[in-house]
Amino acid sequence: MTGKPRVWVSRPTFPEIIARLDEHFAVTSEPQEVRFSPAELAARLADQDAAIVGLKEHIGAAEIAGATRLRIVANLGVGYDNLDVAALTAAGVAVSNTADVLNESVADYAWAMLLGAARRIGAAERWLRAGHWHATEFTGWLGMDVRGRTLGILGMGRIGQAIARRAVGFGMDVIYHNRSPLPASLEHACQARYVDKPQLLAASDFLVLVLPLTAQSRHAIGAPELAQMKPTAVLVNVARGGIVDDAALAAALASGGLAAAALDVFEREPQVHPALLALDNVLLSPHIASASHATRRAMTALAVDNVLALFGHGPHAGRPPTILNPTVLVAAGAVPHP
Ligand code: GLV
Repeated sequence: MTGKPRVWVSRPTFPEIIARLDEHFAVTSEPQEVRFSPAELAARLADQDAAIVGLKEHIGAAEIAGATRLRIVANLGVGYDNLDVAALTAAGVAVSNTADVLNESVADYAWAMLLGAARRIGAAERWLRAGHWHATEFTGWLGMDVRGRTLGILGMGRIGQAIARRAVGFGMDVIYHNRSPLPASLEHACQARYVDKPQLLAASDFLVLVLPLTAQSRHAIGAPELAQMKPTAVLVNVARGGIVDDAALAAALASGGLAAAALDVFEREPQVHPALLALDNVLLSPHIASASHATRRAMTALAVDNVLALFGHGPHAGRPPTILNPTVLVAAGAVPHP
């Protein structure tokens, strides 16, 4: 092969971090956020050796059918439900995510949302900005305390654990449900107790969702699950749209079946269910749980590290640090790019 291998960056990120690729790659970066159609994605990927993509890029067999040179898709996100890993693996394409570097930022944000919903911060701010504050009512804007309440966590990976650790400072009782219980040492570090899902739903005053979106977790919180929750409970979703049935949630919030919710993610992002937009007891944000200055930079750097490593460069040469399908390295004999 002549010339440098090519890498496509599907969205604007941090040019100074992407520039680390320049020595070894010909880089094409999209100058603005675009929602590519499957055909546009296929055209963009067709002549690339590597791609750094975001969660809005859905890539599977059809999108890579013509991408015969493609060797890695590095996802700018810890969740990778936008990628068909089986199809990419079958085509010998490595897939990486941005595990771990965002844990603490997402945990902080989950707490911001939880407290914001409990204390009605979004609605109070809208009311103030609308010019309604003429006198302070002693009994106005009453919210919920968290101390002494039960925090439930559905999905107890590293982000869930980081959320649980913070609960100690808030004086909460923490329960969780996961595919399997944590080892005792981790449960102890998190001060958290394993329960089954019905118990989690019934006992949580605040329920935070931190599980990946899969075929099994789609609508893990729908009308039947919402009916099992306390009418005084608050639901927080910082994981993925689709885990919650947004229409069922809006109905529960409107009818008093649930006290409040805080949502950073939605079933049809960037569209938000109109019934949710009409409610004051739901705090909404545009999928920004990992969006701190440092963390979005760290995510970009990790995606770059994965690409460099797959092509035999950088400190992780030959071993992309957060590869999700390492079998492709074995299949390819982990041969650095010529
Ligand atoms: C964000 O949603 C991520 O998966 O990193």
